[in-house]
Amino acid sequence: MWWRNAVVYQVYPRSFQDSDGDGVGDLRGIEQRLDHLAWLGVDALWMSPIYPSPLADFGYDIADYTDVDPVYGSLADFEALVASAHERGIRVLMDLVPSHTSIEHPWFRDHPDWYIWSPVDGPANNWVASFGGSAWSRDPHGRGWYLHSFYPEQPDLNWRVPEVREAMAGVVRFWLDRGVDGFRVDAIDRLVKDSQLRDDPPASAPFGLPLPEEYGSLEHLYSTNAPDIHEAIAVLRDAAGDALIVGEVYLPSAGAAPYLDNFDLVFAFELFHATPAPSGLRAAVGAALGLERGGEPGAAWVMSNHDFPRLPTRFGRENVGVAAMLLLTLPGTAFVYQGDEIGLADGPGHDPPFDRAGRDGARHPMQWDPGARGGFSDGEPWLDPVDPFDRNVSDSIRDQESLMWLYRRLIELRRGLGRGARLLDAGDGVVAYTRGDSHVVALNFTDAEQPAPAFGEVLLATADGVGEGGVLEPHSGVVARA
Ligand code: GLC
Repeated sequence: MWWRNAVVYQVYPRSFQDSDGDGVGDLRGIEQRLDHLAWLGVDALWMSPIYPSPLADFGYDIADYTDVDPVYGSLADFEALVASAHERGIRVLMDLVPSHTSIEHPWFRDHPDWYIWSPVDGPANNWVASFGGSAWSRDPHGRGWYLHSFYPEQPDLNWRVPEVREAMAGVVRFWLDRGVDGFRVDAIDRLVKDSQLRDDPPASAPFGLPLPEEYGSLEHLYSTNAPDIHEAIAVLRDAAGDALIVGEVYLPSAGAAPYLDNFDLVFAFELFHATPAPSGLRAAVGAALGLERGGEPGAAWVMSNHDFPRLPTRFGRENVGVAAMLLLTLPGTAFVYQGDEIGLADGPGHDPPFDRAGRDGARHPMQWDPGARGGFSDGEPWLDPVDPFDRNVSDSIRDQESLMWLYRRLIELRRGLGRGARLLDAGDGVVAYTRGDSHVVALNFTDAEQPAPAFGEVLLATADGVGEGGVLEPHSGVVARA
């Protein structure tokens, strides 16, 4: 399977490359920048949604699953992009959002029975939407109250309705026919809910991953993750055939494991949300190493995406190299978010915010060169670049000591690392593991020197000289022979 050991690069299409000067990225822009992905050596790109959308949730509210929003281009542009990516050996993943549509999708008007309705004239229960407020809203067409796990503009589909399953299987086939190699599947633990719509109990134990406060006040016993959810997901599996499907299962590893019955991979969100404290990193890695499908790693490792503060913002700029080394030396498949390779941090977002849930900061444009617009657009960017003079792709290429070169070297090196990983007991301040019998990775995320575990020849270090003399400098790491 091509994705074992692969690196998938997440493109946020609005913010990657604008080709027509309207200040919003587009498909032709992505195609123009494919050589950057080839330079890094990634195996695939995943695009956040490009479907027609009224943008209540920046594309995660889809009004037509089988077309491209004109702001991004056309289906012909899409096919051209897939062909160009494939010429470079780069696969293409779509973002599939099966659990809800836009309120403006014709299905909501024409097939109300495809959605979930309250049996009473008001909210059916105490369920809370992810971004706050009741998960029930009054239908603008006067048909009662409908369920929405996210914004009110995103009504939830009822996956117990056979026509919904058939329609979404058709969507999967539509894109496979256009050459896509797989799907990142959105918010999948929301796909099926309690059929009796019972109240969620108050949260009694920590969830294990960060949640917005109001949403986190309940235990989502009935509003997510219903026992028959896997029957519904099997429909997507069948439609996808051999194509890769990666589940966005927002649960700690133990809860995500059953999803590997159908998904090839599930995101390892414990690592994403760990702090740089070594004990927490070891626990997060250890938990996700247990995720398996058919004896192969089931974790999709990820440390940055469009929903949460970016890596330098969460981990500190001093840790970006060592974090890259961690992400790219774990066994299985790794996801890199656009801009991670140049150390792009969060920006200020827009005023007033575009995203009501406060996620603009992680969505600023890619920085290609040191111009005021960072080479992203000839027009006024929808969100300003953060700091294109300080960090950008063209300066990074010229500097062989740059973070971007470290990404490239790690991506090349990871293919040769041995099977599996085993955490080493290497002292409190160090995160260390073996890869197969032949490699050791040792990482120091702390402000102090740490004693290095035993290893042989250093194959790659975050900086020159790291690991010599039996110590790991602050915020450094090595990949070495065992
Ligand atoms: C996923 C997406 C996020 C979106 C949500 C609802 O978590 O990553 O951006 O808001 O699903 O579709």
